[in-house]
Amino acid sequence: MKKTLFILFACCATIMFMSCEGPMGLPGADGLDGLDGSDGTPGVDGNVTCLTCHSTGTIQDIKEQFQQSVHRSGHVAVDYAGARASCARCHSSEGFIEFATNGSVEENISSPSAWECKTCHTIHETFEETNFASILRLADPISFIFDATVIADFGNSNLCANCHQQRRAEPNTASPGTNFEITSTHYGPHSGLQSNVLYGAGLAEIAGSMSYQTAGSGDHMTTASCTGCHMAPYGNGQGGHTWNPALDACNSCHGASETNFDYGGVQTTVQAQLDEIRDTLLARGVVAEGIDTLWVLDEETGLHVQEITSDGYHPVPGTYPMEDVQAFFNWTGLEDDRSLGVHNPKYVKAILTNTLEALKAPK
Ligand code: HEC
Ligand code: HEC
Ligand code: HEC
Ligand code: HEC
Ligand code: HEC
Ligand code: HEC
Repeated sequence: MKKTLFILFACCATIMFMSCEGPMGLPGADGLDGLDGSDGTPGVDGNVTCLTCHSTGTIQDIKEQFQQSVHRSGHVAVDYAGARASCARCHSSEGFIEFATNGSVEENISSPSAWECKTCHTIHETFEETNFASILRLADPISFIFDATVIADFGNSNLCANCHQQRRAEPNTASPGTNFEITSTHYGPHSGLQSNVLYGAGLAEIAGSMSYQTAGSGDHMTTASCTGCHMAPYGNGQGGHTWNPALDACNSCHGASETNFDYGGVQTTVQAQLDEIRDTLLARGVVAEGIDTLWVLDEETGLHVQEITSDGYHPVPGTYPMEDVQAFFNWTGLEDDRSLGVHNPKYVKAILTNTLEALKAPK
């Protein structure tokens, strides 16, 4: 690393000196050399611009925050999905950079990596920019995958929204009708639909006693966006480049002094509503609990015994009334969102309240 830096510095310095004086003029008709040209614009001073980033503690501090993040470890999703062409735009550094550059990922990636600084920032493309927030790899408003006509502007968080969004439309727009056939145990919107929830578009908006706010008008979409909560100034292991949501951000914007994210019991209420939907769907056979059997060593007897564990819930392939499938879609989507309503409290409340009403309505 030190050596590469030195060589790069040396190259920059050479370019700097070479560009100081214009070339000599062509020989004139009298056979004598022409006058020297005027001096060119001086090159950028390589050392100084490199050091504006490399000599500060900022990058070091951010690297330490970054080490704590799931983006850096990539432990859930990079290895398998990071390599597959259809998944890599969201699941590996190489895939995302290719998507950002060419608009698609053409081939599988042989050894995908987790996020690096250059995954999100276009560092080293010019050597002058020091404001990292303005060298984000994808900064434009996004057009959602579930419906490309829905275009949303999350500001700096457009970067995040490229990946943190659902991949499938809700059943009644994907395939309108009174029944819907679930064909796979993987059916659903796909994990990580936080930008849909924040924006308020993409879940199944079943009609009911609560009305849905206009998409894009949610309280946190217009005030905080992803970075406002997840990249607030670093402190207590939260915010900055850890991407853990920062309680300080909630409290300072709300003028509150809460000790957790369960403002006004919203998360508790949402979790209870989600559980009620799940239990109804379990009773109707739309959802089943996955069972895994593990062989574990019994310390006392020294024998391996079979232990039965839950492997989470999955949908059961089959044909069901549309509203049951919509309920499943909303339930699994909001479980995967994992903010328990915080991303968009009013939208989530309307979705869950109307979903429960539809499930309970006599058929
Ligand atoms: C806009 C800020 C910025 C500027 C300007 C900048 N760098 Fe970097 N550089 C980074 C970041 C961020 C990293 C990745 C973090 C790390 O490895 O420290 C990096 C990494 C590097 C690395 C390690 C290899 C790599 O690519 O990851 C080298 C070598 C390097 N920079 C050389 C230079 C040289 C030489 C210059 C000046 C010509 C320069 N940098 C200017 C931000 C910058
Ligand atoms: C290239 C796609 C991509 C981009 C860009 C991206 N993320 Fe992620 N993010 C992911 C994936 C995939 C995971 C899960 C990684 C894993 O588990 O291996 C993740 C994980 C996370 C987590 C941690 C979840 C956990 O399990 O703890 C948070 C929080 C998060 N992202 C927020 C953000 C925010 C905020 C931004 C924008 C500043 C952002 N992400 C940008 C794809 C992305
Ligand atoms: C997942 C995407 C992502 C990755 C990976 C990432 N950044 Fe950032 N970074 C951002 C975003 C988005 C912002 C703007 C935050 C805002 O607007 O508040 C930012 C802001 C910054 C800033 C300016 C604000 C500040 O906190 O000082 C610096 C410096 C920076 N990043 C450096 C780095 C370095 C160094 C790395 C690698 C160790 C890195 N970033 C990795 C997304 C990323
Ligand atoms: C549009 C972006 C996007 C695409 C395309 C995508 N994913 Fe993901 N996926 C995500 C995000 C974001 C997360 C992390 C969500 C979080 O941490 O909340 C995730 C999470 C996951 C997880 C872990 C979550 C869990 O439920 O345990 C798996 C496994 C996964 N994806 C597999 C895949 C596969 C396989 C493909 C391709 C067939 C794929 N993904 C395509 C964005 C995407
Ligand atoms: C109002 C603040 C706020 C905004 C805005 C926000 N988040 Fe969150 N986010 C949270 C909170 C709070 C949680 C749940 C933390 C908990 O209860 O442990 C969360 C959870 C998550 C998780 C799951 C993390 C985990 O550890 O399980 C991901 C991923 C995520 N948010 C990504 C995003 C993305 C991407 C955006 C923008 C589209 C966004 N968030 C906008 C506050 C916010
Ligand atoms: C940048 C400002 C900002 C930040 C940061 C922010 N909020 Fe909010 N939040 C608002 C605004 C504005 C409203 C709508 C007005 C109100 O209800 O207070 C709101 C509404 C809410 C509501 C709905 C209240 C209701 O009953 O309808 C909850 C819950 C909430 N926020 C929780 C959080 C949590 C938890 C965090 C941190 C993870 C957070 N907020 C971060 C600005 C913010």
